[in-house]
Amino acid sequence: MVESALTARTANVITADSVQFACAEGDTLLRAALRAGVAATYECNSGGCGTCKFLPSEGEFTQVQDEPKGLTERDRRKRRMLACQSVPTGDCTVSLVLDPEASRAPTSVFHQDDGALARILM
Ligand code: FES
Repeated sequence: MVESALTARTANVITADSVQFACAEGDTLLRAALRAGVAATYECNSGGCGTCKFLPSEGEFTQVQDEPKGLTERDRRKRRMLACQSVPTGDCTVSLVLDPEASRAPTSVFHQDDGALARILM
């Protein structure tokens, strides 16, 4: 079932596991993943624990906090980011850590149809 077009500007996110979901403008990568039913790992959702670290492959992100406590200097050198603090500015490809105890299957997927991004409920 096709629900409806989402916001005017969304980012299309693809993980290393080929899971695809949409991120609404201004939303963090973590919130968008969880909304789509993608079991991304997290604990604090505020940049403090580092549980949601990911590695971007493609795309640009703005940061909620400039220097969140959840990232070490080594993480920064390795270009790691926090999903709870990163807002995609466009389409991106990322390596997200998924919770092995949760279902990997998203409850919904997003489909590009005639230039409009539509949510398909499963
Ligand atoms: S969930 Fe704790 S730093 Fe992102």
